[in-house]
Amino acid sequence: MKFNTEYNINDVGEKVVLNGWVAKTRNLGGVLFIDLRDRSGIIQLVVKPDNAFYGLASTLHNEYVIKVIGIIVKRESINKNLETGEIEVEVQNLEILNKSLDVPFSLTDDTTALEDTRLKYRYLDLRRNALNKNLILRHKIMMATRNYFDSLGFIEVETPMLCKSTPEGARDYLVPSRVNKGKFYALPQSPQLFKQLLMVGGIEKYFQITKCFRDEDLRADRQPEFTQIDMEMSFADEFEIMDITEKLIAKIFKDVKGIDVKLPLLKMKWDDAMDKYGSDKPDLRFDLPIIDITNIFSNTNIEFLQNVLINTIIVKNKASQFSRKDIDNLTDYVKTYKASGLAYLKMEDVLNGSIAKLLSDEEKNNLIKELNLENNDILFIVSGKKNIVKTSLGALRLKLGHDLNLINQNDYKLLWVTDFPSFEWSEEENRFMAMHHPFTAPKDEDIDKLLNDKEHCYSKAYDIVINGYEVGGGSIRIHQEDIQEKMFEALELTKEDINEKFGFFVNALKYGTPPHGGLALGLDRLTMILAGTDNIRDVIAFPKTANANDLMSECPSEVSDKQLKELGIKKVSE
Ligand code: AMO
Repeated sequence: MKFNTEYNINDVGEKVVLNGWVAKTRNLGGVLFIDLRDRSGIIQLVVKPDNAFYGLASTLHNEYVIKVIGIIVKRESINKNLETGEIEVEVQNLEILNKSLDVPFSLTDDTTALEDTRLKYRYLDLRRNALNKNLILRHKIMMATRNYFDSLGFIEVETPMLCKSTPEGARDYLVPSRVNKGKFYALPQSPQLFKQLLMVGGIEKYFQITKCFRDEDLRADRQPEFTQIDMEMSFADEFEIMDITEKLIAKIFKDVKGIDVKLPLLKMKWDDAMDKYGSDKPDLRFDLPIIDITNIFSNTNIEFLQNVLINTIIVKNKASQFSRKDIDNLTDYVKTYKASGLAYLKMEDVLNGSIAKLLSDEEKNNLIKELNLENNDILFIVSGKKNIVKTSLGALRLKLGHDLNLINQNDYKLLWVTDFPSFEWSEEENRFMAMHHPFTAPKDEDIDKLLNDKEHCYSKAYDIVINGYEVGGGSIRIHQEDIQEKMFEALELTKEDINEKFGFFVNALKYGTPPHGGLALGLDRLTMILAGTDNIRDVIAFPKTANANDLMSECPSEVSDKQLKELGIKKVSE
C-alpha cells in the first residue's frame, strides 16, 4: 500500500486502497469533500449524493480512522497548497475502522495549542506533519550515519545502560539495585569509558547511536535523556577523527537536505574563539567580532578603565536605532553575565555617549582612527576580568545578531573549535575541573603542565559547532596509565577515589591499550538544526519538559511502599 502523497496526476484512473485519518470534512452543495491524512500528507476524497456510501460518509468526524477504496480522478480546480492538489479520489467503498473523541486541539501545522497540551497528548501531536516530518528526518540522519560508518569498517556495539556511578561531568541518574540493597547503578552520561574499553578490547573502529542521561539544568537545546552518535577509533590522531566526522556531517547534509558542505571545515583555536566571539561555540552566520581596545586606554584617567581588559563590539551605521531604553536593556542583559556595566559611544560627527565626556581627545582620536569609526556607528564597551568581558560581550553579540536580524536562517556555518584548555576553574568547587572529561589527552608539549601549570595546559580536544550550537565534541584519549593517574591527581581525586571509581579502567590501561580517540555528536541537536527549529523537543518523539517531566505519562511519579521496601529505600520528607 502506498502513502497518500505517492499518488499524482499520472495515476488518474487507478483504483486505490487508502487508509488514514479524517482531517477535515466539508459539504459543498451536497457533495462531501473529505481530507484524508496519513503520515505523508493529505489526499482529498469525494462522495457525491448518489453514492451508496453517502450516508456513512456524512457521519464522519475529524480523526475517525477510515479505509477507502476509490478511483483517482483529476480535480476540476487545482489546490496548489497540497502535494496531491491535482487529483482527488472518488469513493467506491468506505469503512470506518475506528471512531475518535473530539481532539483537544487542532492537529494542523499552524496549531495554536500550548506546548504543554501538545505534550500531554503527544500521540495526537505526532499526527501533525510538522512533527512527523522531523522524525522522518531524524531517521534519515540515523540511516546515513549507519551506512557511512559501516562503509568505513566501523561496527555498532551496544554498551550497558546500568553502569557504575563515576564522579566528574554532570549529575547521574541513579537506579537502586534490589538484589544488592543499598547499592546503585547510574544511567550512562555517555558510553565514554566503555568505548575506550572497546579499544582496549581490540575493536579498533566502534560507533553507536545511543541514549545518554544527564541530570542537569535543562535548556532549549538540552534534554535529560538524549541521543549521541558516538564513535571511537584506535591508532588515529585528532586530524583523522575530525576528517572522518566532517565527512559524515557533509554526507548527512547532502543526503537529507541536498546541501553541499565545503570541506575541510574551518578550524579555530579555543583561545581565538573566546577572544573574537566570546564563546567556544561561535555563531559565524554573522560578524560583529569582539575587538580589544585596551591599548587605547593605556594612559587613561578614567578609573574604571585602568588595569583591566577593555573590549568592544561595533555595530556599523545603526547608532540611531538604539534608544536610551534599548541601551539600558542591553546593560541589564550583560549584567546577567556578571559584567559590571555596559558603556557605549555613538559616532555622531563627534563621539557621544555614556563615557564620551570622560575621554581625552587623544583617546577619542585613537578610537576613531584605529576602529575606522564612521557616522552612525555605535560601540558597546565592557571592561573587567577577561572571562567576564569575553562571555558577556559574546552573549551581547548573539543578542544583537538576533535583535538586528543579522542572521540568515537558511545559512549553515560549520567549524571546529580546537585546542581546548584541559582544565577550567570551578568557583563552585574551588578547584580545576576537566573542561571535556578526565580521559582527554593533553597536548604532548603540555604533559608536564598537568600538575604544575594547569592554567596553560591545553588538550587534544575538539568540538564541532554549527550555527552557534555545540553539535559534537571529542578528543584523543590518554592511553598511558601513568598519565591517566596524573590527570586524576590534577583533578584532586584521592588515590582511594581513583581506585574505587576508576580502578577497573586504570587497570585496563595496563594491558596494551592502543592510542585512540573519538567523538560524540548530539543527534537531537543535529536534527534540530537540520529541521530548522530551536526547540529540541520538536525532534524527539516523546520528550521531557524543562522540569524533566513527561506530561503524557505523568512521570516521574510516586512508587508504592512495597517497591521501595524491596529496594531497601525509605523516603525522608525534607
Ligand atoms: P559531550 O558531553 O560533549 O561529549 O557530548 C557530546 C554531544 O552530545 C550533545 N549533548 C546533549 N544533547 C542534548 N541534551 C543534552 N543534555 C546534551 N548533552 C550533550 C551535544 C554534545 O556536543 N563522551 C564525550 C564524547 C567524546 O569525548 O567522545 C561526550 O559525551 O551535542
